[in-house]
Formats: sequence, C-alpha cells, structure tokens
Amino acid sequence: MEIIIKQNADMASHASARVVARLVREKPNAVLGLATGSTPLMLYRELVRMHKEEGLDFSRVTTFNLDEYIGLKKEHPQSYYTFMWENLFSQINIKPENVHLPDGMAADVPASCAAYEQEILNAGGIDLQVLGIGSDGHIGFNEPTSSFASRTRIKTLTQQTVADNARFFDGDGSKVPHHCITMGIGTIMDAQMNLMLAFGAGKADAVSAMVEGPVSSMMPASILQHHPLAKVFIDEAAASALKLSNYYRWVYDGKPEWQRDA
Ligand code: F6R
Repeated sequence: MEIIIKQNADMASHASARVVARLVREKPNAVLGLATGSTPLMLYRELVRMHKEEGLDFSRVTTFNLDEYIGLKKEHPQSYYTFMWENLFSQINIKPENVHLPDGMAADVPASCAAYEQEILNAGGIDLQVLGIGSDGHIGFNEPTSSFASRTRIKTLTQQTVADNARFFDGDGSKVPHHCITMGIGTIMDAQMNLMLAFGAGKADAVSAMVEGPVSSMMPASILQHHPLAKVFIDEAAASALKLSNYYRWVYDGKPEWQRDA
C-alpha cells in the first residue's frame, strides 16, 4: 500500500484526481470503478474542472459503480444513480451507454449481479477503482465478515452504516434502505489499481486498522494490504492514528521524480 498524507481533504482529492487523469490520458478507453458518498465529491469536482479547463476527455471512458441501494428508483434523490449523474456524469463528456451502476430495482437480483460481473469482464476489467471506507471498515458495501472472495451480490447494511448514512435521508435511519447490491471484495481486488480516499478524524481508526492492522474479514478494507497497487489518499485527521505516518511521509517525499504521479 502506498499511503499519501496531504494537509487537507482538498489537496488529497486533487492529488488523487491527477492519478485518474493520468490514466485517462494514457489510456483514453480506461475502465473506471467509481464510488459514491461524501468522500469522492472533491475528486469528482476536480475531474470536472480538468474536463472543462484542460480538455480531459471521457468520451471513450467506461465506468462501473461499486454499489446501489435496493428498492430506490433511479430517479430517487438518494439513489447512487442520481448521485453520479448530479456530481460527475452530467458535467463531463461521458457517453451514457458507457456508464454502469447495479440495478437496485432488478426483478431478479442474482441474475442482474451476475450480468454486472459479466459486463465488467466484457469491458476488459477495471483499470482503476475509486474507494471510500466506512467507519466499520467496509469497502463498497462489503460489511465486516464479507468474504474476501465475494463477487457482486446483495448485502444487508450494518446498523452502523444505516446510522452513518441517515444524514443523506433527512437524518432518519428508517428511510435508509437496509439492502444493497455491491461489487464483491473479489471484484474490487481484480481492479488493476485501487485508489482509496479517507478524510476526517471519524475515519482515523478505520484507516489505521486497514493499513496497520491484521488482514481480517472483520475489517474488509484490510484486504487491500494484499493488492499489488493500492494508493491511499488521506488528510492529516484521517492519518492521526497511524503509527508509521512519519515513515509514509518520508517515503512520499523521497520519491524520485519519475515515480511521482500525484
Ligand atoms: C459508496 C461506498 C461506500 C462509501 C463509504 C464511505 O459507493 O461504496 O463504501 O465509500 O461508506 O462513505 P462516505 O464517503 O460518505 O464517508
């Protein structure tokens, strides 16, 4: 894992956007895995700016989102479909047919999950997967004890995640769907690169367990220790519980110019 600590969330997001932009410039038909939630908002804002001001071209890019709530129609204000169109897709030149999200209204959920996996394979696999981390250590909606071999499937959110996400539903946990479709941990681990973002003191314990704790399904994000190319962009607050933070800064500051992409 490469740990990149920036002064604040804005700087960390901009650094992560440079990694995404570099991939899209080098491979115009890149396949991006995308996340929702509050964490990637500044990354998406920066990608929009790069598109508008620097001509970053998404016309051949394909995307697959990590997850979607079950039972919310696409047009629901809190569906991840709405989130992605509002915060990214409507502001860049991506082709609607190249955008994929799990179908939270599918009549046959297992069949639609299998089809989603097949679509990822047909696209050539995910080049770069954007991830956030839940306060309980989830990635996608792979909650604690999720199988490390799991593929796209239905999951039940933990009470912790329902409580965390109530802020998007007028603070009312009873409005948060309890079920979702999420890419599995096996799906996420198949991405060529994983790019994790985490900001704020509320993520500090999860970040330290992910980076420096044992690899355990009780902390799903810890599986990224086994990924050959996982970059973790965090702010000072999210880094505050890391034991080796000085070492990570030392590594980053000492990188030769040719190795720098952020
Ligand atoms: C969202 C997702 C989740 C979030 C995580 C953090 O697509 O897969 O794993 O990344 O719950 O959410 P925020 O960023 O709102 O703290």
